[in-house]
Amino acid sequence: MKLKPCVAATSTLLVLAAALPAAAQFSRPESAVKYRKAAMTMMGNHMGRLGGMAKGSVAFDANVAAANADLIATLSKLPYAAFVEGTAGTDKGSAKANIWTERAKFDEAARLFQNEASRLAAAARSGNVDQFKSAFGNTSKACDSCHDSFQNQ
Ligand code: HEC
Repeated sequence: MKLKPCVAATSTLLVLAAALPAAAQFSRPESAVKYRKAAMTMMGNHMGRLGGMAKGSVAFDANVAAANADLIATLSKLPYAAFVEGTAGTDKGSAKANIWTERAKFDEAARLFQNEASRLAAAARSGNVDQFKSAFGNTSKACDSCHDSFQNQ
């Protein structure tokens, strides 16, 4: 089958976009810092909304929990491509320089966290409050453990 020219051009563009290095997705180092901090801030906000239910001070509502946890799972995919080379200490960010000297360790911490965030979304949706509390605790630990190693407190 012969591809129509416009379809062929579109797929070429898609391949190019996927191959672009992360740095090229941000016009300036400051934009990358702003982007990753914004994603972190939003994750913090939605974790905060779940905190009361996890502690038991707010009644557990599986729909509300799932809506927030789904957002956290989606947001968890965003910040890491914005840790572009050469952006430590830019724009008063609190990223430590060892992110770039221990990149594999940092990426592993990100991957573990993304897995916990997906489990949290599944646990919230299950409607089982004990599973939800335990998954919330694991996700929260994954945030803290990365911050302990890679963020200036
Ligand atoms: C794999 C590492 C990693 C994980 C996991 C992680 N963070 Fe972060 N976080 C960082 C780093 C590094 C910074 C500093 C970013 C900067 O200043 O450029 C940061 C910054 C932040 C900030 C401050 C943003 C600002 O405006 O200065 C908040 C809030 C935050 N994280 C919340 C969270 C929450 C909540 C989670 C879990 C749901 C989480 N983070 C998971 C590495 C991580």
